[in-house]
Amino acid sequence: MISRQIPRCTLLFAVVGMAALSSACDRPPSVELKEWSPADHEGEKKAGENAKQGARGESSETGRGAASLVDITWRNQCASCHGPQGKGDGPQGPMFKAPDLGRADWQARVKDDEIAATIQNGKGRMPKFDLPDEIVRGLVTRVRSFREQ
Ligand code: HEC
Repeated sequence: MISRQIPRCTLLFAVVGMAALSSACDRPPSVELKEWSPADHEGEKKAGENAKQGARGESSETGRGAASLVDITWRNQCASCHGPQGKGDGPQGPMFKAPDLGRADWQARVKDDEIAATIQNGKGRMPKFDLPDEIVRGLVTRVRSFREQ
């Protein structure tokens, strides 16, 4: 009877040893490696702010607001991994190993169509994005603008 009342941890404790167990019993398993999803709420909040900026600025330049839509899309859907300037330093960049899109050697090698295909089909750990052609083309231009001299 008595032996049943001894908590499991205590029994394991004796077998495995103090150091290993004192931490194993306290902590739940790590839940930090969650998949990122484009619907991340943090991004949505920023979209609101950016939409306001766009309404004041770029949209009047283009007449249709496509430039600011591209801007919003980049910040919302891409910068979380690639960083604001494409350096791969977004909050999720290290976790997904997002590459630096400014590298001159890559920029020289890659074709616009290939950049568009990466966005539309995904690549490796990068998810695919179902976006209108106009936005995809704008994103390609944005990616080109990161090119290092
Ligand atoms: C979840 C993180 C993540 C997000 C979000 C993301 N990417 Fe990526 N991206 C990656 C990773 C990782 C790679 C490297 C893929 C590989 O080479 O295996 C990559 C590669 C790329 C490349 C280079 C492809 C090549 O030819 O090597 C481009 C261009 C790119 N991303 C653009 C974008 C654009 C534009 C968006 C937004 C619409 C975006 N990415 C969103 C993670 C991400």
